[in-house]
Amino acid sequence: MRNILITGGAGFIGSHVVRLFVNTFPSDKIYNLDALTYAGNLENLKDIEDAANYEFVHADIQDLEKLTAIFSDKKITHVVHLAAESHVDRSITDPLAFVKTNVLGTANLLQVAKEAWKNDFSNTLFYHVSTDEVYGSLGNTGFFYEGTAYDPRSPYSASKASSDHFVRAYYHTYNLPVVISNCSNNYGPNHFPEKLIPLMINNIIHNKPLPVYGEGLNVRDWLFVLDHARAIERIFSKGTIGQTYNIGGHNEWTNIDLVHVLCDTMDEKLGRTKGDSRKLISYVKDRAGHDLRYAIDATKLQNELGWEPSLQFEEGLSKTIDWYLSNTDWLENVTSGDYRKYYEQMY
Ligand code: NAD
Ligand code: TYD
Repeated sequence: MRNILITGGAGFIGSHVVRLFVNTFPSDKIYNLDALTYAGNLENLKDIEDAANYEFVHADIQDLEKLTAIFSDKKITHVVHLAAESHVDRSITDPLAFVKTNVLGTANLLQVAKEAWKNDFSNTLFYHVSTDEVYGSLGNTGFFYEGTAYDPRSPYSASKASSDHFVRAYYHTYNLPVVISNCSNNYGPNHFPEKLIPLMINNIIHNKPLPVYGEGLNVRDWLFVLDHARAIERIFSKGTIGQTYNIGGHNEWTNIDLVHVLCDTMDEKLGRTKGDSRKLISYVKDRAGHDLRYAIDATKLQNELGWEPSLQFEEGLSKTIDWYLSNTDWLENVTSGDYRKYYEQMY
């Protein structure tokens, strides 16, 4: 039996990974370690919170002592590390928060795992979940490959790049069994409405302005969150120790084209006149240091581990919009901060 610690499991991607692992590995124990920052929401896991092989652990990865106690009490054998500060705009206003969680927090986890497992690394794994943003910004052509040189340009991507370097350093220096994946932009249910797609969906619902940065010509490569979770499970189960895998859907959109599709699809779903939501688009000041284009080449993952995305973008986007339209309470809670008040009482 494995004791698998998933960090950041109350967040957007983490909650989908936790659910997949709880259902896929019934004879393993899945521990969800999360500090429940503004981005963590246990509502995301209501459907599996009573599963026999699931337990929530409230902890901050900045707390080395607590991590040490958790590894020893729970006899952790595997780590899937997703906990992070994840929003580029927040990293521009508060970079040090990103250093503390993404760099120091990751180094803490690595150190605790190494110490806990040092007598026998067999049947252990440290899986680090990272982003394609570590590779920097592409021009109009080309892709990010696993061997692309790191060139992070925002405090967020710099902190994730640094954490990736620490993970590789623990592999080379201490033989800690590690694996890393770098994924493109995710979308889907439970996405906090500060990121592009859920923010636009929320604002369209409420007839609020849709802030498009600059000219809306920046390009992102979008992947449905469950396809990312499936890739993580595949790499966790079949990936080669010490390797890096890129994850992406070959699905590039300029922001403005994407916002147009969201507007038109939502006009249809909400029974509004076609063109109504587009009138909400408002071009605003560009993000500082705004990366122009991200595009992932995921051939290695496809060829070596047989993973490929299961959903076409139109289908994924439609499912995502439907989820937000039928989970207005969730949206209301996270935007009003009610769920934070609840946590403050509970934890
Ligand atoms: P998120 O912001 O939705 O969730 C982050 C989770 O980590 C939250 O539950 C939060 O409470 C928790 N957390 C934050 N600081 C913590 C700390 N100090 N200790 C313990 N828990 C803490 O993020 P997400 O979008 O789900 O991203 C998850 C991971 O995937 C991140 O490592 C991110 O870099 C990576 N990633 C995200 C994307 C994307 O498009 N969202 C793409 C590629 C990679
Ligand atoms: P975001 O969802 O923050 O992801 P990332 O910056 O990590 O790729 O932003 C996606 C793209 O959308 C990015 O080019 C910035 C842009 N954007 C807007 O134009 N308006 C917004 O309100 C937000 C949040 C993002």
